[in-house]
Amino acid sequence: MEYMELGRTGERIPKLGIGTWKMPNDSKECISAIRTAISSGMTLVDTAEMYANEEMVGSAIHGSEAFVVTKVSPHHFHAHDVAKACDASLKRLGIKSIDLYLLHWPSASIPISETMRAMEGLVRAGKVRHIGVSNFSVEEMLEAQAALKREEIAANQVEYSAYVRSIEKGMLEFCQRERITVMAYSPLARGSIPNAAKRRVQEVLDRLALAHKKTPVQVALNYLISHKGVMAIPKAASRAHVLEDAGAAGWHLSPKEMLEIGSLGGQQSPMVHGAVKWLAKNMSAWSSVMEKIEKVRHAAPNRRSPGKD
Ligand SMILES: NC(=O)c1ccc[n+]([C@@H]2O[C@H](COP(=O)([O-])OP(=O)(O)OC[C@H]3O[C@@H](n4cnc5c(N)ncnc54)[C@H](OP(=O)(O)O)[C@@H]3O)[C@@H](O)[C@H]2O)c1
Repeated sequence: MEYMELGRTGERIPKLGIGTWKMPNDSKECISAIRTAISSGMTLVDTAEMYANEEMVGSAIHGSEAFVVTKVSPHHFHAHDVAKACDASLKRLGIKSIDLYLLHWPSASIPISETMRAMEGLVRAGKVRHIGVSNFSVEEMLEAQAALKREEIAANQVEYSAYVRSIEKGMLEFCQRERITVMAYSPLARGSIPNAAKRRVQEVLDRLALAHKKTPVQVALNYLISHKGVMAIPKAASRAHVLEDAGAAGWHLSPKEMLEIGSLGGQQSPMVHGAVKWLAKNMSAWSSVMEKIEKVRHAAPNRRSPGKD
């Protein structure tokens, strides 16, 4: 497995983890798939209170060194609900602290400052180790970071695959520059890539797979994780699929091959629309937020120094 630093936390995470959306809470097959992923080095396991499968994930990771990511849903973004949701997730997962706790998507009604203060409270209480977001635009990340006093947003979990590449239009560069980990969700386009749904992209994946003695699925995942600061969380419910996915790490497409995939037309994701234009105008806003964090950091010298991607 290949590893990278989670955000600027000094924490090492694998370039590939396993997603669990739509895995039923009572599936023995899924428990076995998650255990296969962990033993293959895909030790990051992604779930959410919304997936209603945290007990199953808890059974699968029991006694292992898994890095657990779970998410609080927006209807729980008021401070007292965040605390309750976290306690409930910890109980269902059977763990004492969540490695990375994400806001599942932005709320239009609950102020981000209230939610982020509550998230920091969870870190202080030792119930959460790192804080992140999901489906946030650049502007929303800026607001979320500005609401944090001591912690940093370690990751943004967003849709990214060889079929849906809209984060390449600004979000990816922003996260790379600010060292916020991009967690690529639906990296197999929800099963469309294994089913060769888009002929033009598929022709390229097939040809590169042949050249590298890999499969098109492995090429598609390798394309994502070959980007600096990006890891991916494919969902796979069978041992065979997990093992194939794990084989996407440990080798690299050439820069020319990366460009070839990168030049194929990708779908626009609505989340990123507007944010890129906004980013071009407002880069200085992030810098001033980060300056404030640096000042707080200097006052707290016990923070770990950043490692390498
Ligand atoms: N934050 C968010 O809002 C958000 C949104 C969506 C997803 N996610 C996270 O991202 C994870 C992954 O995304 P996703 O579940 O949408 O879709 P995905 O990982 O893009 O695709 C999953 C599909 O691909 C199939 N598959 C996996 N490996 C395969 C292989 N080697 N050969 C053939 N088929 C293979 C799976 O089949 P089997 O299941 O039969 O193995 C499943 O049907 C989710 O599970 C969830 O944890 C987060």
